[in-house]
Amino acid sequence: MSERSTLILAIETSCDETAAAVVRDGRYVLSNVVASQSALHAPFGGVFPEVASRQHVRDIHPVILSALSSAGHGWGDLDDVAVTRGPGLSGALLVGVNAAKGISMATGLPLLGVHHIAGHIASHRLCVDGRMFEPDEAPPVDYPPLPHVALVVSGGHSELYLVRTFGSIEHIGGTLDDAAGEAFDKAARMLGLGYPGGPAIQAAAEGGDPTAFRLPVGRTDGPLDLSFSGLKTALLRLIEGMRDSDAPLPVADLTASFQAAVAKALSLRVVRALEAHPEARAVLVSGGVAANVALRAALKDATSLPVRFPPLALCTDNAAMIAAAAHIGLCEDAPEVAARAGLDLDVMASLPLGA
Ligand code: KG4
Ligand code: ZN
Repeated sequence: MSERSTLILAIETSCDETAAAVVRDGRYVLSNVVASQSALHAPFGGVFPEVASRQHVRDIHPVILSALSSAGHGWGDLDDVAVTRGPGLSGALLVGVNAAKGISMATGLPLLGVHHIAGHIASHRLCVDGRMFEPDEAPPVDYPPLPHVALVVSGGHSELYLVRTFGSIEHIGGTLDDAAGEAFDKAARMLGLGYPGGPAIQAAAEGGDPTAFRLPVGRTDGPLDLSFSGLKTALLRLIEGMRDSDAPLPVADLTASFQAAVAKALSLRVVRALEAHPEARAVLVSGGVAANVALRAALKDATSLPVRFPPLALCTDNAAMIAAAAHIGLCEDAPEVAARAGLDLDVMASLPLGA
């Protein structure tokens, strides 16, 4: 990929995080501001789309200004403004896209529309060994390695890709029903553990026995596809069965077993993906669920290839990853990842990648 010197302001509002970031040369995060709406959606046990859109409207302006000021830059220093155009919640995406258009109109900065999942994959261009690059630190040669298997696991997505180059991404598998993060969120709701469910389940599982309950890994016809609906139902049946007794629910064992089942389901698909694509040189995991400790351990046990996870701030939704993807769109022919757009840029609630 031919590198280009850029200073990109990126905006991300696809779900329940209002985010803006300034990234230099597609590698160096100068600022990465996120206003999370988790507390606002907690009473609903999941993201309430209308509430999300309205909160983005309130937060977008201060978040963008904060990203600029903590990067130590003004409008005149920027080269481009990039924004997530999909997939995501339409009403939420519209807030970011319209903010980016307003900036483009007022400043003359060129606009880039970015694919959210490609952003998660591109988050690995901002970090190495689980930490962000220091300013001007030379990235390792040929990093992240290509081709690689990318596992994107978040509240909205559980997908597997073979990334040959960023301009040649192939979708090789994914969930047929719930996303992994959604499964965590629903399991947490069943156990009354709050939202977001992933961190709550992880905390509750500490000290629990992951082998205490046998939960299904979710068989699918396609060997690289995933299904979490059977696991969810199995957990619900277990809980309902136990509620009849007077004994308190064994929450630590239940959550540890649930978490182990999700980790096993995902690592099994990664192993199969590597068998089907022996040319892959690494496994790159991203999305909110990449923060999960049980998943991290299971994936590292599953293969001798390097398995990489971004630091926490780049796992969950953020705008730095959108800037990284935008930089790729500027440096190579990868229109699915990011492309120049006009003021008629529209949002796409569903937007395939590498189909
Ligand atoms: O990537 P993300 O911030 O937003 C989406 O694009 O969906 O991911 C949020 C999801 C939530 O479902 C949350 O429960 C899950 O990531 N999550 C975790 C952990 N931290 C966040 N799941 C499992 N373990 C965690 N430690
Ligand atoms: Zn995401």
